[in-house]
Amino acid sequence: MTVRIRKAVFPVAGLGTRFLPATKAMPKEMLTVVDKPLIQYAVEEAQAAGIEHFIFVTGHNKTTIEDHFDANTILESILDRDGKDELLRAVRECTLDSGKISYTRQSEPKGLGHAVWCARDLIGDEPFAVLLPDDIFLCKTPCLKQMVDAYPSVGGNVVAVQEIPVEHSWRYGILKIKNDSGKLIRAKGIVEKPAPDKAPSRIAVSGRYILSPEVLKELDKTERGAKNEIQLTDAIAATIGKVPLTGLRYEGRRFDCGTKIGFLTANIEFALHRPDLAGELKKELKRLQSEL
Ligand code: UTP
Repeated sequence: MTVRIRKAVFPVAGLGTRFLPATKAMPKEMLTVVDKPLIQYAVEEAQAAGIEHFIFVTGHNKTTIEDHFDANTILESILDRDGKDELLRAVRECTLDSGKISYTRQSEPKGLGHAVWCARDLIGDEPFAVLLPDDIFLCKTPCLKQMVDAYPSVGGNVVAVQEIPVEHSWRYGILKIKNDSGKLIRAKGIVEKPAPDKAPSRIAVSGRYILSPEVLKELDKTERGAKNEIQLTDAIAATIGKVPLTGLRYEGRRFDCGTKIGFLTANIEFALHRPDLAGELKKELKRLQSEL
C-alpha cells in the first residue's frame, strides 16, 4: 500500500533577524516576491503536491500569516462590487478551507527541529512534509511534487538537494553519500553547517523535506546542536539505520530568500516570468546595466 503525504508543516516562528528592521513587527514569511508573500509560494507548492492539511508553527508577531490565509469578506465584497474580478480571484485563492489548516505556537525560537517538534500532536504517526518558506523554487514540476512522486520508491526520509560550491557548506545541511545514482542519492549521514574542510560532500539540503514519524521520536530526545538550536538535521541523522535517507536532486532553480541577495534575485527572476511585467522590467534592467 502506498502511503500518501497528507500533511505539511510550515515553520514560521523564526525571528528573521537578517531582514531587520523590516521584520521588527512583520513576519519574514510575509515579505513579498513580486506580489505574493513567501509563505504563499510554499503553500501553493504544497497544494500542487496534494497536501490536504496545512500546519503552521507560529510565534510572536505572526498573526498576519493567519489573516492572510483566512477569508476577508469586506475586501471581497468591495472587489466584487467594483467588478475587480481578477483581484477577487487572487484574494479568494489564498483562503485555505476551514478545518484544513492548524496553528500551533513555538513559544521561543529554539531552532527548526524544535519548531517541527511543536507540531507533533497535529502530525500524529504518519509521514509528513516540511516546507521552509524562505526557500522558493522556479520548477516545471513543483519541488515538493517531485519529492512526493519519488517517495513511494524510497520511503523513509527524503530531502531536496542541490550541488553547491564547497565554500558555501557552512550555510547548509550536507549529505554524506552512500550511493549516488544521479537523481536519487542514498545518504549514510547528514551534518549541519560544516566548515568547508569538514564537509563530507557538496550535496546540500534545501528547505523541502518528507519525514518519517521516527524523526519526531528523535526530536523528543535531541539536545541543542549547532548555533545552540535544536537542529532538524541532527534528528534526521539519528534515524539513519532505522529508515533510509534519500536526497532528491530536484529539477529547477531555488532562491534562498532568507538572504538579501537571494530575495532580490527572486524578485527579478519571478517578475521576468510574468507576462504583465517582463517587457517593462527588461527595459529597466538594460538601462541599469548600461549605467553600471
Ligand atoms: P531561518 O533560520 O532561515 O529563519 O529558519 P530565522 O531564524 O527566522 O532567520 P534569521 O536567520 O534570524 O534571519 C528557516 C525557517 O524556519 C523557521 C523560520 O521562521 C523560517 O521560516 N524557524 C526557525 C522557526 O519556526 N523556529 C525557529 O526556532 C527557527
